[in-house]
Amino acid sequence: MPPANIGIIGHPLGHTLSPVFQNVALRHHGIDAEFTAWPVAPDDLAAKVESFRAPHFIASCVTLPHKQAVIPMIDELADTAKAVGAVNWIINDGGKLIGHNTDAPGFYRALTELGGFTVAGRNAVVLGAGGAARAIVYALVNAGIGQLTIANRTLERAQALATEFSASTDAEISSVEMTTFALSRLAPSIDLWVNTTSVGMAGGPAPDQSPIDANLLRAGQTGYDAVYAPPETPFLRDIKAAGGTALGGLTMLVLQGAVGFELATGTPAPVADMFAAVDEAIGK
Ligand code: ATR
Repeated sequence: MPPANIGIIGHPLGHTLSPVFQNVALRHHGIDAEFTAWPVAPDDLAAKVESFRAPHFIASCVTLPHKQAVIPMIDELADTAKAVGAVNWIINDGGKLIGHNTDAPGFYRALTELGGFTVAGRNAVVLGAGGAARAIVYALVNAGIGQLTIANRTLERAQALATEFSASTDAEISSVEMTTFALSRLAPSIDLWVNTTSVGMAGGPAPDQSPIDANLLRAGQTGYDAVYAPPETPFLRDIKAAGGTALGGLTMLVLQGAVGFELATGTPAPVADMFAAVDEAIGK
C-alpha cells in the first residue's frame, strides 16, 4: 500500500472526487503515494495541519470550511493565496508549510483552455460574493478583464468585494443587487456570465432554478457555472439553448487539482486522464 502522504482535508468531505483524479495523476507518474480523503473537524484542524510538517509528507488540498482557518497555522502564503485570502493547497517544503490558492488559476485555465475565452478587455458579470466569487474575481482582474460587475442577493457583500478589488486594478468593477431588472440592463454588452451562487446546486436552496433569466442570455456569450453537481445546471442548459458556450464547475475542480498536483509533485498533471477518471466516476 503506498503511503497516505498527500490528500484533502474538509468537513464534511462527503463523496469528494479529488482522490479519483489525483490518484490517476500519481499512478501516471509512478509516484509512491495514495491521495487520501481526511474528514477533519474544526477542533482537530491545528493538529492535522501540524502533522503535514513530517518529512515524508507531500501536500494537502484544503476545502470547506477550512480555506481561511488554516492561514494562521502555516508559515507562508504564495501571492495568489494572499490576494484571494484563502488557501486550497498546503505544500510541505522541508517542514515549512506554504499556502497556495489554485482555485483562481484553475478557473482561468478552464475558461481559456477549455472555453477558448479571451479575458483581456472583456465585459463580465460574476453572480455571488462568497469564497468562490473571490477566487474568480481575482482571476478575472489579474487577467485584465475590462469591466466586471459583481451581482449578489445581499448587495453589501458585492459592494465590499468590488471595493477591495478595485484598489488593485484599472478595470471598472461595480456591484449590483442580483435582480432580473439590474441584470437586464447589463445583459446586452456581457461577454461572460459566471455563477458562484448555490442556485442550481443539487441539495442547495433552489436546485431547479437558474440565477439568470434565460431571456437575458445570447449566442456569443460564455456561461461558467462554479456549481459542479449536477454537471449540467439549469443555467448551463439555458446558455446552451441560447447558442452560447457552457462550462461547468467540474472543469475548475479538476484544474485546481491539476495546478495543485503540479506544485506538489513538480511534474505535469495528466489533465485528459484526470477528466476521464471523473467522467467515469460520475457515470458520464
Ligand atoms: P462559497 O464560499 O461557496 O462561494 P458562500 O460564501 O456561502 O459560499 O456564498 C454563497 C453565495 O450564494 C452568496 O453569494 C449567496 O448570496 P448572499 O451573499 O446574499 O447570501 C448566494 N446565494 C445562496 N443562496 C442563494 C439564493 N437562494 N439566491 C441567490 N443567491 C444565493
